[in-house]
Amino acid sequence: MSTKEKKISRIAISTGGGDAPGLNAVIRAVTLSGLKRGWDVYGIQDGFRGILLPEQYVEGGMVKLTFDKVRGITHLGGTMLGTSNRNNPMRYPIELPDGSIEEVDRTDEIVRNLRLHHIDALISVGGDGSLSISDALSKKGLRVIHVPKTIDNDLDKTDATFGFDTAVGFATESVDRLHSTAASHGRVMVVEVMGRYAGWIALHAGVAGSADVILIPEIPYDINKVAEKIKDRDRMGRHYTIVIVAEGAKPAGGKVTIREHKIGKDERLGGIGEQVASEIRSITEKETRVVVLGHLLRGGTPTSLDRLRALRFGAAAVRALDDGQDGVMVALDPPRVKYVPITEAIGQMKYVPVDSDTVLTARDLGISFADAKKA
Ligand code: F6P
Repeated sequence: MSTKEKKISRIAISTGGGDAPGLNAVIRAVTLSGLKRGWDVYGIQDGFRGILLPEQYVEGGMVKLTFDKVRGITHLGGTMLGTSNRNNPMRYPIELPDGSIEEVDRTDEIVRNLRLHHIDALISVGGDGSLSISDALSKKGLRVIHVPKTIDNDLDKTDATFGFDTAVGFATESVDRLHSTAASHGRVMVVEVMGRYAGWIALHAGVAGSADVILIPEIPYDINKVAEKIKDRDRMGRHYTIVIVAEGAKPAGGKVTIREHKIGKDERLGGIGEQVASEIRSITEKETRVVVLGHLLRGGTPTSLDRLRALRFGAAAVRALDDGQDGVMVALDPPRVKYVPITEAIGQMKYVPVDSDTVLTARDLGISFADAKKA
């Protein structure tokens, strides 16, 4: 009998990639739903690192999840299992004797080690990087259900991911707070938010927090249009302006701002806020300050919406296994939770549609995207 056909009695869960508020809620839902079915539930520590340790240590890289272990964690940020966005098992960095780094595929070892520990199925919680890993493991014969996670909201085939609402809530509150200090000093405040190559966080927080300018990757900006908006406001007696900029925003004809090249093709975005601010200063001669929200967006307690999404996703992943499903991603299709084949969800990102009603709403409210269209 192949592993895929075997009746489930033991499952594992891993959390991979950047953390997002709601991960602990998923772990709790998976654990309680698994235990309810009489299954043993194990948590793999630090993404997949816990199952890639030398054989004699693998036991230490997994933790048996019990009712007690997952008590009182729904509202906690982060992940009790730990995570990493640096040790992708498909491109695992190994240091060679000459000090250079080689990337190797260690997914076979994951499948082998999980079998060694009689794990019948894996619930993998993560963003697009983890989704590719889930796909590879599934193709290698492991029974896998993927749970989508990211504050960036950029995963395709799901209406939303948990973590996004918490990030938007914090960014909105930050913009709210900046209004009074910006107004008191007659300054321009530039707020940089995460989101990678998608502008969801900037757009939603910018509209909800009444920013004056929103810069997102999907609508390349013209810095002169930003300056025009600031000057227009000055002429109307509003001597301050709030600009929210997504880390992946780029000027028309320009490139994204990269803070650091990680190993392999990954890049760490960031620095666009400083760049935009310095250009605003030199064009408008106004006092301009930058606030980079960065990892604050990933921390803190998940909102009730994110907790609910996370709990629903976790429980749905276990139900999928119980129903004999395999190689699928849990997805939100309001009001339902549904399942889509991992192969369909992979490789595509979900960007802000430039004609979406949220973008149109922003324009109707007079918010500028610093493009050719009049706000
Ligand atoms: O994908 C989540 C995210 O927070 C992005 O918004 C951001 O670009 C990236 O992760 C930051 O990664 P790191 O934790 O490596 O700084």
